[in-house]
Amino acid sequence: MSNNQESWGSRLGLILAMAGNAVGLGNFLRFPVQAIQNGGGAFIIPYLVCFLLMGIPLLWVEWATGRFGGKKGNHSTPFILHELDPGRAIWKYIGVFGIFTNIAVAAYYCYLESWTLNYVWMFIQGSFNGMGQEGVADYFGSYISLSGSSTAIYFWLLCLFLNTYILSRGLSGGVEKAAKVGMPMLLLFGLFLAYKGITLKGGEFGAILDGTVGLNYLWTPNFDTIWNTKVWLAAAGQIFFTLSVGMGSIQCYAAYVRSKQDIALNAMSAGWMNEFVEVVLGSSILIPIAIGYLGVDRVVELTQSGGLGLGFKTLPYLFTQWGPLMGAVAGICWFGLLFFAGITSSLAMGTPVMAFLRDEFGWKRGPSAWTFGLIILILGAPTVFFFNEGVFDEYDYWAGTVSLVVFAFFEVILFAWVFGMDRGWKEINEGADMRIPVFFRWVIQYVTPVILLAVLLASIPDILSKIQNPGNVYIVGARLLLLTLYAGIGYAVYVAYRRRVTNGGKAIHNK
Ligand code: ALA
Repeated sequence: MSNNQESWGSRLGLILAMAGNAVGLGNFLRFPVQAIQNGGGAFIIPYLVCFLLMGIPLLWVEWATGRFGGKKGNHSTPFILHELDPGRAIWKYIGVFGIFTNIAVAAYYCYLESWTLNYVWMFIQGSFNGMGQEGVADYFGSYISLSGSSTAIYFWLLCLFLNTYILSRGLSGGVEKAAKVGMPMLLLFGLFLAYKGITLKGGEFGAILDGTVGLNYLWTPNFDTIWNTKVWLAAAGQIFFTLSVGMGSIQCYAAYVRSKQDIALNAMSAGWMNEFVEVVLGSSILIPIAIGYLGVDRVVELTQSGGLGLGFKTLPYLFTQWGPLMGAVAGICWFGLLFFAGITSSLAMGTPVMAFLRDEFGWKRGPSAWTFGLIILILGAPTVFFFNEGVFDEYDYWAGTVSLVVFAFFEVILFAWVFGMDRGWKEINEGADMRIPVFFRWVIQYVTPVILLAVLLASIPDILSKIQNPGNVYIVGARLLLLTLYAGIGYAVYVAYRRRVTNGGKAIHNK
């Protein structure tokens, strides 16, 4: 009898959880910074093209792959991919990416998530009032360098505990409930801040420009850099990160969808909700407010030295310009929104790991969740203690950037060319509540794989240069840790496979 009998409570819950998986810190912190770093309007065209030709097709592929695997009792990518081509051993080990990436991203992502909790607390206490720009920036610097205080460690542990506890409540009792609370709150806070950003007036409360100046900067198309590979790679990377494609978490969530339940429309609902939050809300807060106070040139300059400063050093100070009450409301909304965005994504990162332990080793929900929490604690510790040495960014590069593209490339090849596009298209359309234009069948088969290959090839020089110049011993250590993690999961998959062989090809839970 199956030990892994989770399921979604309702269709709305499923869509909110999937949207919560996608909507994350990437929508509010990464997107605006990527857009500014890559020329504002110049970024939007490649971004939208990548969404249409890579993001949407991959959403359908991953939902279909997940539901297909789920029908046979597989809820994590090693054995979901294996199910698509049972004759070849290799897919199981490529599927390791779908567990590895979730663990490695969650390891640094939960730390970032914990900062937002701390900042909510700071605004509730009114601690930023009167601190001045330098003071807020210094606070952030001392917070992440752990100098003089262990606050960052406490909030990190609290955040890990919250994630683990919610995961231990299960899919409908934990993850789905969190999405049902978190997503509406996020939308509410986001709409309020977007209104404040768009209606910002130059000359009031210390702002020098209207909020619309920032919006124009972002939305005025710029064709000058349209052939710049760097801009295209950034746009493709953002689509991956924001939609959570190439991670393995969408497949896992979809594996718990009923066998004939629609995936075509559900995938679009969740995907477009993410795009609304990213493109409409994500571009109406950070950019208009920062540019309104500092001007385009200064904001561009600030993003050159890394992306997180704008959200954690600049914005909190600017909010205090709105007076103690409005400043506190804005700060709580901004960091509260980031927290809800973050936790609904990090929960999605825990689910594939739990699913693997439950399917293959028959573990119960609680021990699987706490094991995930423990792994994140161990693997996240270097990102906390050696943040300034570059370990956090190193995890983000290998797990949050390169791995996503590699995995998505193999996955789309397996789906369209090995499993076969006839079966694949049927699988996507099974139970569909919408008609998918046939154009997308052709895109999935030819265009998406070619784009993914192009992104991979174009990334090779950067990957080689990173390998040749690690920078410091902490970065070498981080790489070894990530490699060990991949190998360890690969070994667990091997053990699980041997157990399946003695169990007539089925996962242990099907005994
Ligand atoms: N999709 C998640 C985000 O945007 C990971 O943060």
